Amino acid sequence: MMQAVGAVEARPQIRPRPGASDYGGPTDLMKLKNRSAAPTTPAALEAAAEAAQGTVASAVEVATTAARPRVSHRLARPADDCVRDGLLKGKKALVFGVANDHSIAWGIAKALYDQGAEVGFSSMASLIKRRVRPLAASLGSTFVEGCDVRDDDEIRKVFERWHAREGDLDILVHAVAYAEKEDLAGNFSATSRDGFHTAFDISVYSLIAMAREARGYMKPGSSIMTMTYYGAEKVVPHYNIMGVAKAALEASTRYLAADLGPSGIRVNAISAGPVRTLSAHGIAGFRTMYGGFKDVTPLRSNITIEDVAGTAVYLASPLSGQTTGEVIYVDGGFNILGLPVADE
Ligand SMILES: NC(=O)c1ccc[n+]([C@@H]2O[C@H](COP(=O)([O-])OP(=O)(O)OC[C@H]3O[C@@H](n4cnc5c(N)ncnc54)[C@H](O)[C@@H]3O)[C@@H](O)[C@H]2O)c1
Repeated sequence: MMQAVGAVEARPQIRPRPGASDYGGPTDLMKLKNRSAAPTTPAALEAAAEAAQGTVASAVEVATTAARPRVSHRLARPADDCVRDGLLKGKKALVFGVANDHSIAWGIAKALYDQGAEVGFSSMASLIKRRVRPLAASLGSTFVEGCDVRDDDEIRKVFERWHAREGDLDILVHAVAYAEKEDLAGNFSATSRDGFHTAFDISVYSLIAMAREARGYMKPGSSIMTMTYYGAEKVVPHYNIMGVAKAALEASTRYLAADLGPSGIRVNAISAGPVRTLSAHGIAGFRTMYGGFKDVTPLRSNITIEDVAGTAVYLASPLSGQTTGEVIYVDGGFNILGLPVADE
């Protein structure tokens, strides 16, 4: 995950002397008294001298306390506040698709928060009480709205409530997908008409509907992102209708980017390698595919929600200010391979 910029800047630079992990004896006390940072006010000197008459331990305690470098108010803020001085300080994000703490949406929400953004949530109503609200609360968020993305009215209400409470929106994360279990196994030609509609309605049209509702509240520089998978481009066993839906999602990303670009709103997709989430386990053979992935992908490791979140932070930030309509891979390089083969 990306390091919080503010956290690095804010850490007080107190370096121990080489070879000395602690102040441990009379020699150290002498050196301490000669240091430029040693006590200089009459009262502090008096206290140190008085302490030096006593045990070494008590002298050390007094002298080191008096010699502690001055820490500015900025550095003395609570650690959490310091960390939130990040790339996204002052930005407001709305994240659709948290089901639990394994969700890609959750990894992204946490990373946006760590970089200083305020984050609100929308998920299926049935998940809110037990799953989403406690996670949101851990980021200090109380904007948690139920929404079934098959319903345009529900989508519209989420954005209206957001606008009434938070005003503008800088970052919209769409991490929602669904297909019937029977359409994620077996022969692709067996896909039902209803299964096709369901997968496209929830996994593709929802992005278009969200972008339509969000655009009125998004200023130039805002960012929309969605989640896709390599099965959009190449045949992946059992991914079936979801591969076709992801192809339409990637095309929608480009059309939305062209539509919203003149308003300064960017739209991109992240193509993640396999991540162990609730949805992924609904795909037949996912466990095997996940198990073998790290043996063949160039970077030889599995993909985590933190990996995806790092790219989400980039897409949400001004660092990607001239990038729109793109599909960005977070797959350890898997997509460049012509023939994925494991080492002997
Ligand atoms: N896990 C992976 O390997 C992987 C890889 C690439 C892309 N993705 C994509 O990432 C996104 C997030 O999936 P995830 O893997 O984190 O799984 P997840 O199960 O944690 O998230 C999927 C979310 O979609 C929501 N959802 C489904 N139907 C909905 C509806 N009708 N209304 C509102 N919400 C609905 C679910 O409630 C859930 O919160 C999906 O678009 C998925 O295709 C996942």
